[in-house]
Amino acid sequence: MTEIIDGNAVAQSIRDDLVASIDRLVDAGQRPSLATVLMSEDPASETYVSMKQDDCEEVGIEAIDIDIDPDADAAELYDTIEDLNADEDVNGILVQMPVPDHVEDRSVLRAIDPMKDVDGFHPENVGRLVAGDARYKPCTPHGIQKLIESAGVNTEGKDAVVVGRSDIVGKPMANLLIQKAPGGNATTTVCHSRTENLAERTRNADILVAAAGVPEMIDGEMIQEGATVIDVGINRVDADTEKGYELVGDVEYESAKEVAGAITPVPGGVGPMTRAMLLYNTVKATGLQHDIDVDLP
Ligand code: GUN
Repeated sequence: MTEIIDGNAVAQSIRDDLVASIDRLVDAGQRPSLATVLMSEDPASETYVSMKQDDCEEVGIEAIDIDIDPDADAAELYDTIEDLNADEDVNGILVQMPVPDHVEDRSVLRAIDPMKDVDGFHPENVGRLVAGDARYKPCTPHGIQKLIESAGVNTEGKDAVVVGRSDIVGKPMANLLIQKAPGGNATTTVCHSRTENLAERTRNADILVAAAGVPEMIDGEMIQEGATVIDVGINRVDADTEKGYELVGDVEYESAKEVAGAITPVPGGVGPMTRAMLLYNTVKATGLQHDIDVDLP
């Protein structure tokens, strides 16, 4: 029987565990707070940010919601980040990506105070992750580590294949999988748009993480019998539904689930975990900034 990994349930259990740490911070006079900055009118980005805000409120993290006109000058975004960096009441800062083309995304990430960089995208935090001394693990790959663990799968010595090399998912995922640490110690291959014989590589995976952003590119024939399959894709494809689209992953779910040992659904797999780990990092950030010990799940 294929295990369907329930991201909603694992995320809920992480949120439940975080509440005790949040209570502790509140007792110490430090309610955690997260500022989200959205400089986009992309409907998917708007939805993600509003879900992140709702999650904060549900667990008792203060959510600060900042919208910047996508046509505004880049300076407006930098000024906003500078104010948030200086504001002692703000513990975490998230600038939703992508930002408009006239704004240089790398400079935006560098502008955020690394102690408040709860995405873990600032070069200082990326460097720490690579060095095996992570401060804030990026939310999606960290959530995937928790999902793999929840399925009772040990990564040690396994062949892991990551399809996709983005800064947000593919690269940090591969870095976590190779660390000499729990959830790591895997023999890890990163595939991407120039990879030759992709199916040959994916069929070798005991653990397959599909994060290329290409709808249903991995089908059952590309998966090893019994593999753990993690689908990071959330692709809107045209469909005859009320909304005019449906969400599909990077994995063709129906054929993949016949072969996989465990698989994440879309939606309800990785997505809820990304959001839960953002809360986790915000709680961690608050503890670090005020030198308060917090137990993290
Ligand atoms: N856009 C897509 N995923 C993410 C994420 O995890 N963080 C931010 N800031 N933007 C994103």
